[in-house]
Amino acid sequence: HYLGIDVGTSAVKAILVDERQAAVAEADVPLQVSRPRELWSEQDPEAWWQAVQSAVEGLRTQNPSALADIRGIGLSGQMHGAVLLDEAGRPLRPAILWNDGRSFGEAEELRHQHPELSHAMGVIPMPGFTAPKLLWLARHEPETFRAVRKVLLPKDYIRLKLTGSAMTEMSDAAGTWWLDEAARDWSDAALAATGLTRDHMGDLVEGSQPSGTVRPEVARQWGLRDDVVVAGGGGDAAAGAVGLGAIEDGSAFISLGTSGQLFVTTRDFSPAPEALVHSFCHAVPGRWFQMAAMLNGASCLAWAAGLLKADIGDLLRQTEAAYQAPSGLLFLPYLAGERTPHNDPHARGVFFGLSPETRQTDLVQAVLEGVAFSFADAKQCLAQAGTQLTHAGMIGGGSRSTFWTRIFASVLNVPLMRYEGSDKGPAFGAARLARLASTGEAPDVVCTTPKILETIEPDPRLVELYAPRVEAFRSLYRVLKPEFA
Ligand code: XUL
Repeated sequence: HYLGIDVGTSAVKAILVDERQAAVAEADVPLQVSRPRELWSEQDPEAWWQAVQSAVEGLRTQNPSALADIRGIGLSGQMHGAVLLDEAGRPLRPAILWNDGRSFGEAEELRHQHPELSHAMGVIPMPGFTAPKLLWLARHEPETFRAVRKVLLPKDYIRLKLTGSAMTEMSDAAGTWWLDEAARDWSDAALAATGLTRDHMGDLVEGSQPSGTVRPEVARQWGLRDDVVVAGGGGDAAAGAVGLGAIEDGSAFISLGTSGQLFVTTRDFSPAPEALVHSFCHAVPGRWFQMAAMLNGASCLAWAAGLLKADIGDLLRQTEAAYQAPSGLLFLPYLAGERTPHNDPHARGVFFGLSPETRQTDLVQAVLEGVAFSFADAKQCLAQAGTQLTHAGMIGGGSRSTFWTRIFASVLNVPLMRYEGSDKGPAFGAARLARLASTGEAPDVVCTTPKILETIEPDPRLVELYAPRVEAFRSLYRVLKPEFA
């Protein structure tokens, strides 16, 4: 068996996979995010480790004998977070997460003082990335900054607990803004720009290579064999791609989870930093990807359901029943600010066009459409980066709604495929990386594409009606931008 663990933002997910790649047990343990100040978003690394241990206990309850058969463990996780450790490997403060906007000024400063670096780092510096956060720390918490011995990414903190080594792998290191993406090595120049050296970083392996073995104490506690390999693993975007078999040039998918991504695998490193496309190393050797990364995905629907005190499934059913044509309302989905295409942590959500006749289902339809419109922007950014989207897979919690997927297909004017078992997400990709690291098999043998459940084609009538709505959506943000600052 192979164990995949995904340290997400809203939950830790663990999945146990057998030799035929079937899931034999799955466990989810929820996590909280703390937002102690405007723009801040933090989690305690110890809470991740507690949740990982509870998730493994959950797997044991479901399948008591399987843990003793585990050959390899793969790790995936939320990208970009800064886990700041002292000499003894203890967290110096809560981790600063991917959706934290506090280091906006520092990101701008890096961009202007080091314009030559963005190309090699695969994207311009933005406040969600790790490097500007360290510059913020040096300014605002200088004592903590001076005490930092290692900066790790969220899943790599779990690796430290599991193996005792401070290591990372290419696809997550890619999102720090310290990695030379073409060389697949740390950039001394980018590290120096934030007052650090490679000693502060974990050692690098490929996602499909071993990074170490589980420490005897943990093996005993979890009831594992004493030679279990821990694979490099991947950032959640790349691990999700591995789970879907998207490791060949041009394979594309939309991930509609808490956040949203439009992801395309590339044979070569193909940066377009000013288009706000992230051109990063993949979790398998010799591959890269281009990604538009949005901070607001299915989280917008969860937010609306919370306010309306309604169940998400009920809201989707009622809205589908009332649907006739694109909504006259517009919703800007930027509740948490936005990365691609705006690089604007100050942007906020907006409803536009409310009238006395506006019903609850109109609001929900506008939310579903607003998120889809932000992916139309993502498609445009990828086109600027030289990649034309012709079709894509659709994964993540939001893809469970055929209705929402149909809106996406017509807004983007591309067919979208839904796959069998695609809800297993990045944890499944992490389990595949565990297998690659344990057996040495070739990635294309293990990373196959799941069976297509259905292909959702764009509706020509809706394609035509949605095109001007996307333009109105773009213009609304442009007009409001100065008000957000
Ligand atoms: C990707 C990103 C998010 C997090 C979410 O750039 O910031 O997708 O990885 O977990």
